[in-house]
Amino acid sequence: MVDADRFIQEAIEEIHEEVGGANAVIALSGGVDSSVAAALAYEALGDRLTPVYVDTGLMRKGETDQIRETFDYMHSLRVVEAKDRFLDALDGITDPEAKRHAIGEQFIREFEREAKETDADYLVQGTIYPDRIESEGNIKSHHNVGGLPDVVDFEGIVEPVRDLYKDEVRDVARELGLDELVAERMPFPGPGLAVRIVGEVTEEKLEVAREATYVVEEELEEYDPWQAFAAVLGKATGVKGDNRVHGHVVAIRSVESRDGMTARAQELDWSTLQRIQSRITGELPNVARVLYDVTHKPPATIEYE
Ligand code: XMP
Repeated sequence: MVDADRFIQEAIEEIHEEVGGANAVIALSGGVDSSVAAALAYEALGDRLTPVYVDTGLMRKGETDQIRETFDYMHSLRVVEAKDRFLDALDGITDPEAKRHAIGEQFIREFEREAKETDADYLVQGTIYPDRIESEGNIKSHHNVGGLPDVVDFEGIVEPVRDLYKDEVRDVARELGLDELVAERMPFPGPGLAVRIVGEVTEEKLEVAREATYVVEEELEEYDPWQAFAAVLGKATGVKGDNRVHGHVVAIRSVESRDGMTARAQELDWSTLQRIQSRITGELPNVARVLYDVTHKPPATIEYE
């Protein structure tokens, strides 16, 4: 386990050394990794750091408001409304790796523009150790690692938590005095809901994934999962009222894990599962079925794409 206090001192020094007297932008996602990277970079650079949150349209319900609240203390926070550009970039793409690359590329383009506007030469990212391992091992390219385009218009990319596991990042978050809600927050992947939609990403499927995930997070809070969410798999026939419908199939995933490298599907009560099913099919008219995913990692991954 990392010595959080020492880690913080060393990370701040390292950011100083790497960035020198230049300006930097930090990519915020609201998750614990980027929040810790941001707090460290803010300590090191102060006003020379501009925090940027890109609203990709692939985020969870209420995420943008939460980010504004959490990072209110950094006065220069910039919120970029980029939903239409991300949906355009994803238009017609069905291959999971192509999706990740399209998202990674769009992210970088957004940050390059923000960096130009704020005169920043460096990009700070909250990449952690498992992100790098899985990208290097080609299990999948995490959007903020293997998904980077070949040409990136930055002097350097700074990744202060690149050698930490998630539980170590949480320790550092507490040592930094970040809100416990941020320190304990469920991991959420950089490419967002796009990796919880099998096949093409559309606004309709995003809405289903977002609303159903909200129900799942709410209903499973007492189980304290490492991650719990809903994914949109495809379509199937159902019957609602007097009508047959061809609606979305939603899978519920709830897993226990230490670091995300391996995971176990959680054992949930039947009554809990039924309550989730009834809320999702009741609240979302275009959902025909709800399934529970009982697969561990391996052989499955946590996310769907
Ligand atoms: P998988 O699906 O690979 O997920 O079993 C392991 C952990 O990593 C998160 N994840 C990502 N995080 N960019 C991220 O920042 C990504 O592209 C990405 N893909 C997966 C996932 O949510 C889980 O916690």
